[in-house]
Amino acid sequence: MCGIVGYVGARDCTEVLLNSLSKLEYRGYDSAGIAVLENDEIRTCKAQGRLANLEVKIKQAGGMSGHCGIGHTRWATHGEPSDINSHPHGNAIVSIVHNGIIENYKILKERLEKKGYTFISQTDTEIVAKLLDHYYNGDPIEAIRKTEAKIEGSYALGILFRDFPNTVYAMRNDSPLIVAKGDGEAFIASDVPAVLQYTKEYYLLESGEIAILKDGVPSFMTLDGEPIEKELLVANWDMESAEKGGYEHFMLKEIHEQPTAIKTTITPRIIDGMPNIEECGVTPEMLRDFSNIFVVACGTAMHAGLVGKYVIEKIARVSVTVDVASEFRYRSPIISPNDLVILVSQSGETADTRAALRLAKEQGAKTLAIVNVKGSSIAREADFVLYTHAGPEISVASTKAYMVQIAVFYLIAFELAYVKGKISEEECCRLTKELTNVPKFIDVILSQKDNCQYVASQLVNSENLLYIGRGLDYALSMEGSLKLKEISYIHSESYAAGELKHGTISLVTEHMPVIAVVTQRDLFDKTISNVKEVKARHAKTFIVTHQYINIDNDVADYKIGIPTIDDLLMPMLAVVPLQLIAYYTSVLRGNDVDKPRNLAKSVTVE
Ligand code: F6R
Repeated sequence: MCGIVGYVGARDCTEVLLNSLSKLEYRGYDSAGIAVLENDEIRTCKAQGRLANLEVKIKQAGGMSGHCGIGHTRWATHGEPSDINSHPHGNAIVSIVHNGIIENYKILKERLEKKGYTFISQTDTEIVAKLLDHYYNGDPIEAIRKTEAKIEGSYALGILFRDFPNTVYAMRNDSPLIVAKGDGEAFIASDVPAVLQYTKEYYLLESGEIAILKDGVPSFMTLDGEPIEKELLVANWDMESAEKGGYEHFMLKEIHEQPTAIKTTITPRIIDGMPNIEECGVTPEMLRDFSNIFVVACGTAMHAGLVGKYVIEKIARVSVTVDVASEFRYRSPIISPNDLVILVSQSGETADTRAALRLAKEQGAKTLAIVNVKGSSIAREADFVLYTHAGPEISVASTKAYMVQIAVFYLIAFELAYVKGKISEEECCRLTKELTNVPKFIDVILSQKDNCQYVASQLVNSENLLYIGRGLDYALSMEGSLKLKEISYIHSESYAAGELKHGTISLVTEHMPVIAVVTQRDLFDKTISNVKEVKARHAKTFIVTHQYINIDNDVADYKIGIPTIDDLLMPMLAVVPLQLIAYYTSVLRGNDVDKPRNLAKSVTVE
C-alpha cells in the first residue's frame, strides 16, 4: 500500500526522500513522487512506475535540492496509476502526500467545485489538498484542524506549506505513521524500515494528533492545539535486517531466516521446558477457561490460523473457528464474552483484520493479537499481544512471518492442552522440545534446495496447478498454493484430497500437475490413493513427504523428502519446500519476486 516519507534537516532532502522511499518499495506501489521546498517554492516531481522513473524525471528537471520535503509511493485505489494521479497533490501554497482512503470525497469534491475549485486528478487525495488550501489563512494548524473536521475515512498525511519553509506537518487517523528523530533532523514515514539508515528512534503518531517537524525537531499537539509529550521508542530492527544481505531476493533471504526467527520467537516463551505465554497477560487459568476460540486473519496469516485450528482441536479439544477477516462481520458471528478471538497479522495494520478486532471487542470477547510489527494498530488495540519476532518482512509474499505465526500457535496449543488436562506434563515437555528441534531440520531442507529448483523447472510452463492434502496437510497446501499463485502468476488451487473426486478431478489431465503434501502418517494411504487417482488421469505428480518413505515411481513423478519429526509439527518443515517451489518458479518465469504485480505488503484498505 502507499508509502509516505518526509524529511527536515541538513541533508540533501531529495536524496533522503528517494532513499527512504526505496525502503518502502516492498509495500507495493505503481507510481511515486516527491515535493521539496526549494528557495521558498514547492517543487514537485512525480512519475508512474518504479522509483527509477522518478529519479530520471528529477534529473531531467535539473535536479531538486532543499532541506525539507515529502515523498510518496502510491498503490492506486481511486484512479489508475498515472503521473497525474501520483502524489504529492496540491498547488503553489500547500502540498500533501496521503495514505488511506477519504470515504466522503465525492460530497467534498462537489462542495469544493461549487466554490470554484477544479480538479485534475481522479484521486480522493486531491480533495484534501484543496480543502487545506481553502482553509489556509496563514495558520497551518488551523487549516489542518478544519480539514480534519471535514474528512472521513482512514488517512495518514504529510503536508508542506510554502510559507513555512523548514517544517513538515503530519496527521493521521487509522493509517499508520511514525515520526523519527535524528541528530538535528526529523522524518515521517509509514514504516520504520524507511528511516533505519538514519535513525532508530521514533514516535508513534496516534489518531487525532498533529506532528510538527520544525527545523528538524519534532513536536506534537492535539487537534485542539494542546502540546503532547510522547514516548520515544527505539527500533529493535537494524539496517542489515532490512537489506538483502547477499541474497538475490528478500523472499529467499526471509526463507533462510526462518530457523532464527523460530528460535527468537519461541525461546522466551518456554520456561523449564514448558510453553508459557503468560507474558502477554493470558494466564494458564484464563487460557483454560475460554469456551471457544476464533481466529481471524487474511491470506497467509489466515492459513497460519488453519494450522492452529487443527493443532488446538486435535490436542486441546477446544473448538476453533477460522475466518477470513473480510467476511467475518458479514456472517454475524456468535461470539460471547467467554470466547477468545485471535487476530493474526504480520503488519498489524491490515484493515479487515482491524475491523474484525473491533467487532470482537464490541461483542465483549477477549482479543489476542499475534503480530510482527511492534506498536502496530492491531497490537495496540487488542487486549493481549504475542509478538512474533521475525524481524522486518520485506518481500510481499509472506514466509518467515507465517512460520513464526504457526510456531506461536503450537505454543498456545501445547499450553492449552496441558492446562485442560488433555496431555500430561511429560507429553507437553516432549512436544515443546520437538518444537525447538524444528530450526535444525529446516536447515537440512534449506541445504537441499536443488530438489525444489527441479520441481520449479517442471512447473514453469504450466497454466494451472493443484495442491492436495488431508488434515494438516490440507491446511498447509492452501498456503503452498497461495504462495505459488501470488508470485508465479500460475493459477493454482488447493483441494482437500478426498474432495477432488466430487467435481474438480474433471480438470485433471496431463496439463494439470498436482503437488501432494503427505506428511500425516495416519492419513498416508488415503492421500496416496487420491494421488493415484490423478496419476491415472495423466497428471504429473510431485509428493512432499518424509525422507524415509519410499514412493513408487508409478505414484510420484518426483518426491521431495523432508526430515521426520512429530507429525503434528510437520507443517513447519513441509512449508519450506512449498515456499521454495513458489520462489524458484517465479524466478524462472522472470517475475519481480519480491514485488508481485497488483499486490501490497500492508493492506490498509478494506
Ligand atoms: C501473502 C501475504 C498476504 C498477507 C495478508 C495479511 O503472501 O503476505 O496474504 O498474509 O495480506 O497481511 P498481514 O499479515 O500483514 O495482516
